Amino acid sequence: MSTTTSALQIERLKFKPALPKVLRAGPSGVTAKAGRPTQSLSDQASVQGLFPRTYGLPLVSFVPGKNPAAAKKAVRVGVVLSGGQAPGGHNVLAGLLDGLKKANPKNKLFGFMGGPSGILENKFKELTPALVAGYRNTGGFDLIQSGRTKIETPEQFAAAKKNIADNQFDALVVVGGDDSNTNAALLAEYFKAEGLAAAVLGVPKTIDGDLKNDQIEASFGFDTATKIYAEVVGNIGRDILSARKYWHFVRLMGRSASHITLEVALQTHPNLALIGEEVLEKKQTLADVVDGIAQTVARRAADKKNYGFVLIPEGLIEFIPEMRSLISGLNDALAQNEGALAGLSAFEEKRDVVAKSLPAPLAGLLRSLPDGFQAQLMLDRDPHGNVTVSQIETEKLLVEMVKKRLAEMKKAGSYDGKFAAITHFFGYEGRCGAPSNFDATYCYALGYNAAVLALNGLTGYLSSVQNLTKPSAEWKAGGVPLTMMMNVERRKGKEKPVIQKALVRLDDAPFAAFAKARESWAAADDYVFPGPIQYFGPAAVTDAPTRTLRLESARR
Ligand code: FBP
Repeated sequence: MSTTTSALQIERLKFKPALPKVLRAGPSGVTAKAGRPTQSLSDQASVQGLFPRTYGLPLVSFVPGKNPAAAKKAVRVGVVLSGGQAPGGHNVLAGLLDGLKKANPKNKLFGFMGGPSGILENKFKELTPALVAGYRNTGGFDLIQSGRTKIETPEQFAAAKKNIADNQFDALVVVGGDDSNTNAALLAEYFKAEGLAAAVLGVPKTIDGDLKNDQIEASFGFDTATKIYAEVVGNIGRDILSARKYWHFVRLMGRSASHITLEVALQTHPNLALIGEEVLEKKQTLADVVDGIAQTVARRAADKKNYGFVLIPEGLIEFIPEMRSLISGLNDALAQNEGALAGLSAFEEKRDVVAKSLPAPLAGLLRSLPDGFQAQLMLDRDPHGNVTVSQIETEKLLVEMVKKRLAEMKKAGSYDGKFAAITHFFGYEGRCGAPSNFDATYCYALGYNAAVLALNGLTGYLSSVQNLTKPSAEWKAGGVPLTMMMNVERRKGKEKPVIQKALVRLDDAPFAAFAKARESWAAADDYVFPGPIQYFGPAAVTDAPTRTLRLESARR
Protein backbone atom coordinates (compact mmCIF):
# COMPACT_ATOMS: atom_id res chain seq x y z
CA MET A 1 0.00 0.00 0.00
CA SER A 2 1.12 3.54 -0.64
CA THR A 3 2.70 5.11 2.44
CA THR A 4 0.66 8.27 1.96
CA THR A 5 -2.97 8.05 2.96
CA SER A 6 -5.55 10.56 1.78
CA ALA A 7 -7.68 12.49 4.24
CA LEU A 8 -10.79 10.69 2.96
CA GLN A 9 -9.15 7.30 3.38
CA ILE A 10 -8.28 8.10 7.00
CA GLU A 11 -11.90 9.03 7.70
CA ARG A 12 -13.25 6.01 5.81
CA LEU A 13 -11.12 3.64 7.89
CA LYS A 14 -13.47 4.55 10.75
CA PHE A 15 -16.62 3.49 8.86
CA LYS A 16 -18.15 0.42 10.49
CA PRO A 17 -20.44 -1.43 8.08
CA ALA A 18 -23.58 -2.49 9.95
CA LEU A 19 -24.08 -6.25 9.61
CA PRO A 20 -27.47 -7.80 8.91
CA LYS A 21 -29.11 -8.44 12.30
CA VAL A 22 -29.14 -12.20 11.71
CA LEU A 23 -25.33 -12.31 11.49
CA ARG A 24 -24.60 -10.07 14.45
CA ALA A 25 -24.39 -12.89 17.01
CA GLY A 26 -21.52 -14.31 14.96
CA PRO A 27 -21.23 -17.68 13.20
CA SER A 28 -22.01 -19.66 16.34
CA GLY A 29 -25.28 -17.74 16.75
CA VAL A 30 -26.82 -18.73 13.39
CA THR A 31 -27.96 -22.01 11.96
CA ALA A 32 -28.37 -22.98 8.34
CA LYS A 33 -31.93 -23.71 7.27
CA ALA A 34 -32.08 -25.81 4.10
CA GLY A 35 -34.82 -25.04 1.61
CA ARG A 36 -36.04 -26.96 -1.38
CA PRO A 37 -33.62 -28.84 -3.67
CA THR A 38 -32.75 -26.83 -6.75
CA GLN A 39 -32.45 -27.29 -10.53
CA SER A 40 -30.18 -25.51 -12.98
CA LEU A 41 -31.83 -22.72 -15.01
CA SER A 42 -31.93 -24.91 -18.11
CA ASP A 43 -30.12 -27.88 -19.66
CA GLN A 44 -30.74 -29.77 -16.40
CA ALA A 45 -29.58 -33.16 -17.67
CA SER A 46 -26.25 -31.87 -19.03
CA VAL A 47 -25.54 -29.72 -15.97
CA GLN A 48 -26.38 -32.61 -13.63
CA GLY A 49 -24.22 -34.93 -15.69
CA LEU A 50 -21.23 -32.64 -15.20
CA PHE A 51 -21.94 -31.89 -11.53
CA PRO A 52 -23.19 -35.23 -10.14
CA ARG A 53 -22.03 -34.43 -6.59
CA THR A 54 -23.02 -30.79 -6.25
CA TYR A 55 -26.14 -30.63 -8.42
CA GLY A 56 -29.54 -30.10 -6.81
CA LEU A 57 -28.28 -28.74 -3.47
CA PRO A 58 -30.93 -26.89 -1.45
CA LEU A 59 -31.07 -23.14 -1.01
CA VAL A 60 -29.77 -22.20 2.43
CA SER A 61 -30.89 -19.33 4.65
CA PHE A 62 -29.36 -18.37 7.97
CA VAL A 63 -31.61 -18.01 10.98
CA PRO A 64 -30.80 -17.19 14.62
CA GLY A 65 -29.89 -20.28 16.64
CA LYS A 66 -27.07 -21.81 18.66
CA ASN A 67 -24.42 -23.40 16.48
CA PRO A 68 -21.38 -24.20 18.66
CA ALA A 69 -19.99 -26.50 15.95
CA ALA A 70 -19.22 -23.44 13.81
CA ALA A 71 -16.71 -22.27 16.41
CA LYS A 72 -15.26 -25.56 17.55
CA LYS A 73 -12.42 -26.40 15.26
CA ALA A 74 -9.84 -23.81 14.15
CA VAL A 75 -10.04 -23.51 10.36
CA ARG A 76 -7.83 -22.19 7.58
CA VAL A 77 -9.57 -20.48 4.69
CA GLY A 78 -8.07 -19.34 1.38
CA VAL A 79 -9.59 -16.50 -0.63
CA VAL A 80 -8.96 -15.34 -4.19
CA LEU A 81 -10.09 -12.19 -6.01
CA SER A 82 -10.85 -13.18 -9.58
CA GLY A 83 -11.47 -11.17 -12.76
CA GLY A 84 -12.04 -7.44 -13.10
CA GLN A 85 -11.68 -5.22 -10.07
CA ALA A 86 -14.84 -4.00 -8.38
CA PRO A 87 -15.21 -1.47 -5.55
CA GLY A 88 -15.59 -3.17 -2.18
CA GLY A 89 -13.35 -6.22 -2.67
CA HIS A 90 -11.26 -5.32 0.37
CA ASN A 91 -14.40 -5.25 2.50
CA VAL A 92 -15.24 -8.79 1.40
CA LEU A 93 -11.83 -9.78 2.79
CA ALA A 94 -12.48 -7.77 5.97
CA GLY A 95 -15.92 -9.35 6.47
CA LEU A 96 -14.53 -12.82 5.84
CA LEU A 97 -11.71 -12.26 8.33
CA ASP A 98 -13.99 -10.79 11.01
CA GLY A 99 -16.51 -13.63 10.60
CA LEU A 100 -13.77 -16.24 10.96
CA LYS A 101 -12.14 -14.55 13.94
CA LYS A 102 -15.46 -13.98 15.69
CA ALA A 103 -16.11 -17.73 15.52
CA ASN A 104 -12.66 -18.69 16.75
CA PRO A 105 -9.68 -16.34 17.14
CA LYS A 106 -7.45 -19.21 15.98
CA ASN A 107 -9.13 -19.30 12.56
CA LYS A 108 -6.87 -17.99 9.80
CA LEU A 109 -7.47 -16.36 6.43
CA PHE A 110 -5.03 -16.52 3.52
CA GLY A 111 -5.22 -14.53 0.31
CA PHE A 112 -4.04 -16.12 -2.95
CA MET A 113 -1.99 -13.59 -4.89
CA GLY A 114 -2.86 -12.28 -8.34
CA GLY A 115 -6.08 -14.19 -8.92
CA PRO A 116 -6.54 -17.91 -9.64
CA SER A 117 -2.92 -18.22 -10.85
CA GLY A 118 -2.00 -17.75 -7.18
CA ILE A 119 -3.83 -20.99 -6.38
CA LEU A 120 -1.94 -22.86 -9.12
CA GLU A 121 1.42 -21.40 -8.14
CA ASN A 122 0.72 -21.69 -4.42
CA LYS A 123 1.36 -18.00 -3.84
CA PHE A 124 -0.53 -16.65 -0.87
CA LYS A 125 -0.15 -14.55 2.24
CA GLU A 126 -1.90 -14.55 5.58
CA LEU A 127 -4.46 -11.79 5.88
CA THR A 128 -4.00 -10.84 9.51
CA PRO A 129 -6.19 -8.28 11.29
CA ALA A 130 -3.22 -5.87 11.30
CA LEU A 131 -2.71 -6.20 7.55
CA VAL A 132 -6.38 -5.88 6.66
CA ALA A 133 -6.87 -2.89 9.00
CA GLY A 134 -5.39 -0.41 6.50
CA TYR A 135 -7.61 -1.60 3.65
CA ARG A 136 -11.07 -1.37 5.21
CA ASN A 137 -13.52 0.60 3.07
CA THR A 138 -10.89 1.25 0.39
CA GLY A 139 -11.35 0.62 -3.33
CA GLY A 140 -9.22 -1.69 -5.44
CA PHE A 141 -7.98 -5.23 -5.07
CA ASP A 142 -4.38 -4.22 -4.36
CA LEU A 143 -4.06 -6.09 -1.06
CA ILE A 144 -3.81 -9.41 -2.96
CA GLN A 145 -4.46 -8.30 -6.58
CA SER A 146 -6.58 -10.12 -9.13
CA GLY A 147 -6.20 -12.03 -12.39
CA ARG A 148 -8.18 -13.81 -15.09
CA THR A 149 -6.46 -17.21 -15.21
CA LYS A 150 -9.01 -19.94 -15.78
CA ILE A 151 -8.45 -23.25 -14.03
CA GLU A 152 -9.32 -25.68 -16.82
CA THR A 153 -6.78 -28.38 -17.62
CA PRO A 154 -6.58 -31.63 -15.62
CA GLU A 155 -3.10 -30.55 -14.50
CA GLN A 156 -4.44 -27.23 -13.22
CA PHE A 157 -7.24 -28.93 -11.29
CA ALA A 158 -4.73 -31.33 -9.79
CA ALA A 159 -2.41 -28.44 -8.84
CA ALA A 160 -5.31 -26.58 -7.19
CA LYS A 161 -6.22 -29.69 -5.20
CA LYS A 162 -2.62 -30.32 -4.18
CA ASN A 163 -2.07 -26.79 -2.95
CA ILE A 164 -5.36 -26.58 -1.06
CA ALA A 165 -4.65 -29.98 0.53
CA ASP A 166 -0.96 -29.31 1.31
CA ASN A 167 -1.84 -26.01 2.99
CA GLN A 168 -4.62 -27.75 4.93
CA PHE A 169 -7.20 -25.23 3.84
CA ASP A 170 -10.72 -26.07 4.95
CA ALA A 171 -12.33 -23.79 2.38
CA LEU A 172 -11.58 -21.68 -0.67
CA VAL A 173 -13.63 -18.54 -1.32
CA VAL A 174 -13.69 -17.30 -4.93
CA VAL A 175 -14.71 -13.65 -5.27
CA GLY A 176 -15.71 -13.27 -8.89
CA GLY A 177 -18.23 -12.82 -11.69
CA ASP A 178 -20.14 -15.42 -13.67
CA ASP A 179 -17.04 -16.99 -15.23
CA SER A 180 -15.04 -17.12 -12.00
CA ASN A 181 -17.94 -18.59 -10.09
CA THR A 182 -18.42 -21.18 -12.83
CA ASN A 183 -14.81 -22.09 -12.13
CA ALA A 184 -15.64 -22.21 -8.40
CA ALA A 185 -18.47 -24.66 -9.14
CA LEU A 186 -16.12 -26.89 -11.14
CA LEU A 187 -13.59 -26.85 -8.31
CA ALA A 188 -16.26 -27.67 -5.71
CA GLU A 189 -17.33 -30.66 -7.80
CA TYR A 190 -13.75 -31.76 -8.45
CA PHE A 191 -12.70 -31.56 -4.79
CA LYS A 192 -15.70 -33.70 -3.84
CA ALA A 193 -14.94 -36.22 -6.56
CA GLU A 194 -11.34 -36.41 -5.35
CA GLY A 195 -12.39 -36.87 -1.72
CA LEU A 196 -10.94 -33.52 -0.61
CA ALA A 197 -13.09 -32.14 2.19
CA ALA A 198 -12.26 -28.46 1.46
CA ALA A 199 -15.33 -26.40 0.60
CA VAL A 200 -15.46 -24.02 -2.37
CA LEU A 201 -17.68 -20.95 -2.10
CA GLY A 202 -18.31 -17.90 -4.26
CA VAL A 203 -19.01 -14.21 -3.72
CA PRO A 204 -20.87 -12.25 -6.47
CA LYS A 205 -18.57 -9.57 -7.82
CA THR A 206 -18.69 -7.50 -10.99
CA ILE A 207 -19.28 -3.87 -11.81
CA ASP A 208 -21.18 -5.10 -14.88
CA GLY A 209 -24.17 -6.01 -12.70
CA ASP A 210 -24.86 -9.14 -14.71
CA LEU A 211 -24.41 -11.71 -11.97
CA LYS A 212 -27.89 -11.50 -10.53
CA ASN A 213 -31.06 -13.57 -10.48
CA ASP A 214 -34.03 -14.26 -8.22
CA GLN A 215 -31.67 -14.98 -5.31
CA ILE A 216 -28.81 -12.58 -6.03
CA GLU A 217 -30.20 -9.03 -6.15
CA ALA A 218 -26.95 -7.36 -7.18
CA SER A 219 -23.29 -8.05 -7.71
CA PHE A 220 -21.01 -5.87 -5.64
CA GLY A 221 -19.24 -2.94 -7.29
CA PHE A 222 -22.12 -2.01 -9.61
CA ASP A 223 -23.38 0.62 -7.16
CA THR A 224 -20.08 2.47 -6.82
CA ALA A 225 -18.97 2.15 -10.44
CA THR A 226 -22.26 3.46 -11.84
CA LYS A 227 -22.21 6.35 -9.37
CA ILE A 228 -18.70 7.27 -10.52
CA TYR A 229 -19.71 7.10 -14.21
CA ALA A 230 -22.92 9.04 -13.52
CA GLU A 231 -20.88 11.75 -11.83
CA VAL A 232 -18.58 12.27 -14.83
CA VAL A 233 -21.36 11.87 -17.38
CA GLY A 234 -23.40 14.45 -15.44
CA ASN A 235 -20.41 16.78 -15.50
CA ILE A 236 -20.20 16.34 -19.26
CA GLY A 237 -23.90 17.23 -19.47
CA ARG A 238 -23.19 20.46 -17.66
CA ASP A 239 -20.25 21.21 -19.93
CA ILE A 240 -22.52 20.60 -22.92
CA LEU A 241 -25.09 23.06 -21.62
CA SER A 242 -22.35 25.59 -20.93
CA ALA A 243 -20.68 25.40 -24.36
CA ARG A 244 -23.53 24.14 -26.60
CA LYS A 245 -21.23 23.07 -29.40
CA TYR A 246 -20.39 19.38 -29.09
CA TRP A 247 -22.00 15.98 -29.26
CA HIS A 248 -20.36 13.67 -26.73
CA PHE A 249 -20.31 9.94 -27.46
CA VAL A 250 -19.67 8.12 -24.20
CA ARG A 251 -18.92 4.42 -24.14
CA LEU A 252 -19.40 2.81 -20.75
CA MET A 253 -17.93 -0.43 -19.46
CA GLY A 254 -20.01 -3.55 -19.08
CA ARG A 255 -18.68 -6.36 -21.18
CA SER A 256 -21.93 -7.88 -22.22
CA ALA A 257 -25.08 -6.68 -20.52
CA SER A 258 -26.06 -2.99 -20.75
CA HIS A 259 -26.98 -2.60 -17.05
CA ILE A 260 -24.30 0.05 -16.47
CA THR A 261 -25.48 2.16 -19.40
CA LEU A 262 -29.11 1.80 -18.36
CA GLU A 263 -28.35 2.80 -14.76
CA VAL A 264 -26.23 5.79 -15.81
CA ALA A 265 -29.01 6.82 -18.23
CA LEU A 266 -31.55 6.68 -15.41
CA GLN A 267 -29.25 8.83 -13.30
CA THR A 268 -28.31 11.42 -15.94
CA HIS A 269 -31.04 11.58 -18.67
CA PRO A 270 -28.98 11.47 -21.89
CA ASN A 271 -30.37 12.48 -25.28
CA LEU A 272 -29.85 8.91 -26.38
CA ALA A 273 -28.75 5.70 -24.70
CA LEU A 274 -28.30 2.52 -26.69
CA ILE A 275 -29.29 -0.66 -24.90
CA GLY A 276 -27.65 -3.68 -26.51
CA GLU A 277 -30.42 -6.07 -25.54
CA GLU A 278 -32.99 -3.88 -27.33
CA VAL A 279 -30.82 -3.64 -30.43
CA LEU A 280 -30.74 -7.44 -30.50
CA GLU A 281 -34.47 -7.78 -29.87
CA LYS A 282 -35.20 -5.40 -32.75
CA LYS A 283 -32.57 -7.13 -34.91
CA GLN A 284 -31.06 -3.76 -35.75
CA THR A 285 -28.13 -3.59 -38.13
CA LEU A 286 -25.17 -1.33 -37.59
CA ALA A 287 -26.69 0.97 -40.22
CA ASP A 288 -29.99 1.06 -38.26
CA VAL A 289 -28.17 2.05 -35.08
CA VAL A 290 -26.25 4.76 -36.91
CA ASP A 291 -29.40 6.04 -38.57
CA GLY A 292 -31.20 6.20 -35.19
CA ILE A 293 -28.44 8.37 -33.77
CA ALA A 294 -28.34 10.58 -36.88
CA GLN A 295 -32.11 11.14 -36.69
CA THR A 296 -31.83 12.34 -33.10
CA VAL A 297 -28.96 14.63 -34.04
CA ALA A 298 -31.03 16.02 -36.93
CA ARG A 299 -34.14 16.54 -34.79
CA ARG A 300 -32.15 18.50 -32.23
CA ALA A 301 -30.39 20.46 -34.97
CA ALA A 302 -33.82 21.53 -36.22
CA ASP A 303 -34.31 23.06 -32.73
CA LYS A 304 -30.93 24.78 -33.08
CA LYS A 305 -29.38 22.29 -30.65
CA ASN A 306 -26.18 21.06 -32.21
CA TYR A 307 -25.16 19.38 -28.99
CA GLY A 308 -26.08 16.49 -26.79
CA PHE A 309 -24.77 13.20 -25.46
CA VAL A 310 -25.17 9.55 -26.31
CA LEU A 311 -24.43 6.64 -23.98
CA ILE A 312 -23.08 3.48 -25.59
CA PRO A 313 -22.59 0.19 -23.75
CA GLU A 314 -19.21 -1.36 -24.54
CA GLY A 315 -20.95 -4.65 -25.28
CA LEU A 316 -23.17 -3.08 -27.96
CA ILE A 317 -21.16 -4.53 -30.76
CA GLU A 318 -22.00 -8.09 -29.69
CA PHE A 319 -25.73 -7.36 -29.72
CA ILE A 320 -25.92 -6.20 -33.32
CA PRO A 321 -26.90 -9.48 -35.01
CA GLU A 322 -24.51 -9.15 -37.99
CA MET A 323 -21.63 -8.19 -35.67
CA ARG A 324 -22.57 -10.97 -33.27
CA SER A 325 -22.30 -13.50 -36.12
CA LEU A 326 -19.00 -11.98 -37.12
CA ILE A 327 -17.63 -12.17 -33.56
CA SER A 328 -18.84 -15.72 -33.14
CA GLY A 329 -17.26 -16.65 -36.50
CA LEU A 330 -14.06 -14.90 -35.42
CA ASN A 331 -14.04 -16.77 -32.08
CA ASP A 332 -14.09 -20.08 -33.93
CA ALA A 333 -11.66 -18.91 -36.65
CA LEU A 334 -9.17 -17.58 -34.09
CA ALA A 335 -9.38 -20.83 -32.08
CA GLN A 336 -8.95 -22.99 -35.21
CA ASN A 337 -5.94 -20.99 -36.46
CA GLU A 338 -4.27 -20.44 -33.10
CA GLY A 339 -1.00 -22.07 -34.22
CA ALA A 340 -0.77 -20.29 -37.58
CA LEU A 341 -1.60 -16.91 -36.06
CA ALA A 342 1.03 -17.23 -33.35
CA GLY A 343 3.73 -17.05 -35.99
CA LEU A 344 2.41 -13.86 -37.62
CA SER A 345 2.88 -10.30 -36.48
CA ALA A 346 1.40 -8.07 -39.22
CA PHE A 347 -2.30 -7.36 -38.80
CA GLU A 348 -3.05 -7.80 -42.54
CA GLU A 349 -1.50 -11.28 -42.56
CA LYS A 350 -3.50 -12.32 -39.51
CA ARG A 351 -6.68 -10.88 -40.95
CA ASP A 352 -6.17 -12.79 -44.22
CA VAL A 353 -5.68 -16.10 -42.39
CA VAL A 354 -8.77 -15.52 -40.28
CA ALA A 355 -10.88 -14.27 -43.19
CA LYS A 356 -10.18 -17.51 -45.08
CA SER A 357 -11.83 -19.50 -42.28
CA LEU A 358 -14.91 -17.27 -42.21
CA PRO A 359 -18.01 -17.76 -44.37
CA ALA A 360 -17.81 -15.30 -47.32
CA PRO A 361 -20.45 -12.80 -46.05
CA LEU A 362 -18.69 -12.53 -42.68
CA ALA A 363 -15.29 -12.15 -44.32
CA GLY A 364 -16.80 -9.36 -46.43
CA LEU A 365 -18.27 -7.67 -43.35
CA LEU A 366 -14.92 -7.87 -41.58
CA ARG A 367 -13.10 -6.28 -44.50
CA SER A 368 -15.73 -3.50 -44.77
CA LEU A 369 -14.84 -2.19 -41.32
CA PRO A 370 -12.00 0.29 -40.68
CA ASP A 371 -8.64 -1.48 -40.25
CA GLY A 372 -8.19 -0.39 -36.66
CA PHE A 373 -11.62 -1.72 -35.76
CA GLN A 374 -10.93 -5.05 -37.51
CA ALA A 375 -7.75 -5.39 -35.47
CA GLN A 376 -9.64 -4.65 -32.25
CA LEU A 377 -12.22 -7.33 -33.08
CA MET A 378 -9.43 -9.83 -33.61
CA LEU A 379 -7.61 -9.17 -30.32
CA ASP A 380 -6.95 -12.25 -28.18
CA ARG A 381 -9.98 -13.49 -26.27
CA ASP A 382 -9.67 -13.59 -22.48
CA PRO A 383 -9.02 -16.97 -20.83
CA HIS A 384 -12.79 -17.52 -20.59
CA GLY A 385 -13.24 -16.99 -24.34
CA ASN A 386 -14.71 -13.46 -24.06
CA VAL A 387 -14.00 -10.73 -26.62
CA THR A 388 -12.07 -7.87 -24.99
CA VAL A 389 -14.75 -5.27 -25.69
CA SER A 390 -13.08 -2.76 -23.40
CA GLN A 391 -10.52 -2.35 -26.20
CA ILE A 392 -13.00 -2.01 -29.07
CA GLU A 393 -13.62 1.67 -29.73
CA THR A 394 -17.25 1.44 -30.82
CA GLU A 395 -17.85 5.10 -29.95
CA LYS A 396 -15.29 6.16 -32.56
CA LEU A 397 -16.75 3.85 -35.20
CA LEU A 398 -20.21 5.26 -34.51
CA VAL A 399 -19.02 8.88 -34.75
CA GLU A 400 -17.43 8.20 -38.12
CA MET A 401 -20.52 6.43 -39.41
CA VAL A 402 -22.91 9.09 -38.04
CA LYS A 403 -20.82 11.78 -39.75
CA LYS A 404 -21.21 9.98 -43.08
CA ARG A 405 -24.92 9.46 -42.56
CA LEU A 406 -25.44 13.13 -41.67
CA ALA A 407 -23.57 14.16 -44.81
CA GLU A 408 -25.99 12.04 -46.87
CA MET A 409 -28.94 13.55 -45.04
CA LYS A 410 -27.62 17.04 -45.63
CA LYS A 411 -27.43 16.31 -49.35
CA ALA A 412 -30.98 15.00 -49.28
CA GLY A 413 -32.13 18.11 -47.40
CA SER A 414 -33.21 16.28 -44.25
CA TYR A 415 -30.51 17.70 -41.97
CA ASP A 416 -29.19 21.15 -41.50
CA GLY A 417 -26.78 21.49 -38.63
CA LYS A 418 -23.23 21.22 -37.34
CA PHE A 419 -21.85 18.01 -35.95
CA ALA A 420 -18.69 18.20 -33.85
CA ALA A 421 -18.23 15.06 -31.78
CA ILE A 422 -16.02 14.16 -28.84
CA THR A 423 -15.59 10.56 -27.69
CA HIS A 424 -15.02 9.13 -24.22
CA PHE A 425 -14.64 5.73 -22.68
CA PHE A 426 -15.33 5.37 -18.97
CA GLY A 427 -14.44 1.98 -17.57
CA TYR A 428 -11.30 1.61 -15.57
CA GLU A 429 -12.02 4.92 -13.79
CA GLY A 430 -14.90 3.29 -11.94
CA ARG A 431 -13.58 -0.12 -11.00
CA CYS A 432 -11.39 0.76 -8.06
CA GLY A 433 -13.19 3.75 -6.61
CA ALA A 434 -13.66 3.97 -2.84
CA PRO A 435 -16.81 1.90 -2.26
CA SER A 436 -20.05 3.75 -1.62
CA ASN A 437 -21.68 3.15 1.75
CA PHE A 438 -23.88 0.60 0.00
CA ASP A 439 -20.99 -1.38 -1.49
CA ALA A 440 -18.86 -1.08 1.67
CA THR A 441 -21.70 -2.51 3.75
CA TYR A 442 -22.85 -5.08 1.18
CA CYS A 443 -19.33 -6.40 0.62
CA TYR A 444 -18.64 -6.69 4.33
CA ALA A 445 -21.88 -8.66 4.76
CA LEU A 446 -21.09 -10.90 1.75
CA GLY A 447 -17.65 -11.71 3.16
CA TYR A 448 -18.91 -12.31 6.69
CA ASN A 449 -21.68 -14.50 5.28
CA ALA A 450 -19.14 -16.48 3.24
CA ALA A 451 -17.31 -17.20 6.51
CA VAL A 452 -20.56 -18.52 7.99
CA LEU A 453 -21.13 -20.73 4.92
CA ALA A 454 -17.58 -22.09 5.25
CA LEU A 455 -17.93 -22.72 8.98
CA ASN A 456 -21.09 -24.72 8.28
CA GLY A 457 -19.15 -26.98 5.94
CA LEU A 458 -21.21 -25.95 2.90
CA THR A 459 -19.63 -26.27 -0.53
CA GLY A 460 -20.72 -25.24 -4.05
CA TYR A 461 -22.61 -22.16 -2.81
CA LEU A 462 -22.59 -18.45 -3.65
CA SER A 463 -22.79 -16.07 -0.70
CA SER A 464 -26.18 -14.41 -0.85
CA VAL A 465 -27.39 -11.29 0.96
CA GLN A 466 -30.90 -10.13 0.10
CA ASN A 467 -33.46 -7.41 0.87
CA LEU A 468 -30.92 -4.82 -0.21
CA THR A 469 -33.18 -1.80 -0.54
CA LYS A 470 -33.95 -2.05 3.19
CA PRO A 471 -31.53 -0.91 5.94
CA SER A 472 -28.70 -3.42 6.29
CA ALA A 473 -30.02 -4.64 9.66
CA GLU A 474 -32.93 -6.18 7.75
CA TRP A 475 -30.83 -7.90 5.09
CA LYS A 476 -31.22 -11.66 4.80
CA ALA A 477 -28.24 -13.97 4.54
CA GLY A 478 -27.76 -17.42 3.08
CA GLY A 479 -26.34 -19.42 0.19
CA VAL A 480 -27.40 -20.20 -3.37
CA PRO A 481 -26.15 -23.41 -5.04
CA LEU A 482 -23.82 -22.45 -7.90
CA THR A 483 -25.29 -25.10 -10.19
CA MET A 484 -28.73 -23.53 -9.76
CA MET A 485 -27.59 -20.51 -11.78
CA MET A 486 -26.23 -22.51 -14.71
CA ASN A 487 -27.12 -23.07 -18.33
CA VAL A 488 -25.14 -24.32 -21.32
CA GLU A 489 -23.45 -21.79 -23.65
CA ARG A 490 -21.05 -21.97 -26.58
CA ARG A 491 -17.55 -20.96 -25.49
CA LYS A 492 -14.38 -21.17 -27.60
CA GLY A 493 -16.32 -23.23 -30.13
CA LYS A 494 -17.62 -25.75 -27.54
CA GLU A 495 -20.82 -26.19 -25.50
CA LYS A 496 -20.01 -25.47 -21.82
CA PRO A 497 -22.05 -25.25 -18.61
CA VAL A 498 -21.73 -21.70 -17.27
CA ILE A 499 -23.47 -19.43 -14.79
CA GLN A 500 -26.01 -17.51 -16.84
CA LYS A 501 -25.30 -13.82 -17.39
CA ALA A 502 -28.25 -11.62 -16.46
CA LEU A 503 -28.92 -9.37 -19.44
CA VAL A 504 -31.13 -6.27 -19.33
CA ARG A 505 -34.72 -7.47 -19.44
CA LEU A 506 -36.84 -5.37 -21.74
CA ASP A 507 -39.95 -6.37 -19.79
CA ASP A 508 -38.56 -5.26 -16.44
CA ALA A 509 -38.99 -2.03 -14.48
CA PRO A 510 -35.58 -0.35 -15.10
CA PHE A 511 -35.89 -0.59 -18.88
CA ALA A 512 -39.58 0.41 -18.72
CA ALA A 513 -38.69 3.55 -16.74
CA PHE A 514 -36.06 4.43 -19.35
CA ALA A 515 -38.31 3.68 -22.33
CA LYS A 516 -41.04 5.89 -20.89
CA ALA A 517 -38.76 8.90 -20.52
CA ARG A 518 -36.37 8.66 -23.46
CA GLU A 519 -38.46 10.55 -26.03
CA SER A 520 -38.54 13.60 -23.83
CA TRP A 521 -34.84 13.27 -22.94
CA ALA A 522 -33.99 13.16 -26.66
CA ALA A 523 -35.61 16.52 -27.35
CA ALA A 524 -35.16 18.38 -24.07
CA ASP A 525 -32.01 19.23 -22.15
CA ASP A 526 -33.20 17.41 -19.08
CA TYR A 527 -29.72 16.49 -17.88
CA VAL A 528 -29.24 15.47 -14.24
CA PHE A 529 -25.99 16.12 -12.36
CA PRO A 530 -25.62 13.41 -9.71
CA GLY A 531 -22.29 14.80 -8.40
CA PRO A 532 -19.64 12.77 -6.56
CA ILE A 533 -20.38 9.88 -4.21
CA GLN A 534 -20.97 11.20 -0.70
CA TYR A 535 -19.84 9.27 2.35
CA PHE A 536 -20.98 11.69 5.03
CA GLY A 537 -24.27 13.54 5.25
CA PRO A 538 -27.98 12.82 4.95
CA ALA A 539 -28.83 9.17 4.25
CA ALA A 540 -30.84 10.15 1.16
CA VAL A 541 -27.53 11.21 -0.40
CA THR A 542 -25.12 8.73 1.15
CA ASP A 543 -27.07 5.50 1.25
CA ALA A 544 -29.40 5.41 -1.77
CA PRO A 545 -28.91 2.21 -3.78
CA THR A 546 -28.95 2.26 -7.57
CA ARG A 547 -32.11 3.10 -9.52
CA THR A 548 -31.88 -0.37 -11.04
CA LEU A 549 -32.01 -2.09 -7.66
CA ARG A 550 -34.81 0.15 -6.41
CA LEU A 551 -36.92 -0.36 -9.53
CA GLU A 552 -36.31 -4.10 -9.61
CA SER A 553 -37.13 -4.59 -5.95
CA ALA A 554 -40.31 -2.51 -6.22
CA ARG A 555 -41.69 -5.18 -8.54
CA ARG A 556 -40.55 -8.15 -6.42
P1 FBP B 1 -15.59 -9.06 -14.53
O1 FBP B 1 -16.71 -9.65 -15.32
O2 FBP B 1 -14.49 -9.99 -14.29
O3 FBP B 1 -16.10 -8.46 -13.26
O4 FBP B 1 -14.96 -7.86 -15.35
C1 FBP B 1 -15.74 -6.85 -15.83
C2 FBP B 1 -15.01 -5.84 -16.65
O5 FBP B 1 -14.78 -4.68 -15.89
C3 FBP B 1 -15.79 -5.53 -17.92
O6 FBP B 1 -16.71 -4.53 -17.71
C4 FBP B 1 -14.68 -5.16 -18.89
O7 FBP B 1 -15.05 -5.36 -20.22
C5 FBP B 1 -13.59 -6.07 -18.49
O8 FBP B 1 -13.74 -6.30 -17.11
C6 FBP B 1 -12.23 -5.51 -18.76
O9 FBP B 1 -11.29 -6.49 -18.48
P2 FBP B 1 -9.77 -6.24 -18.22
O10 FBP B 1 -9.65 -5.72 -16.84
O11 FBP B 1 -9.18 -7.60 -18.33
O12 FBP B 1 -9.28 -5.26 -19.23
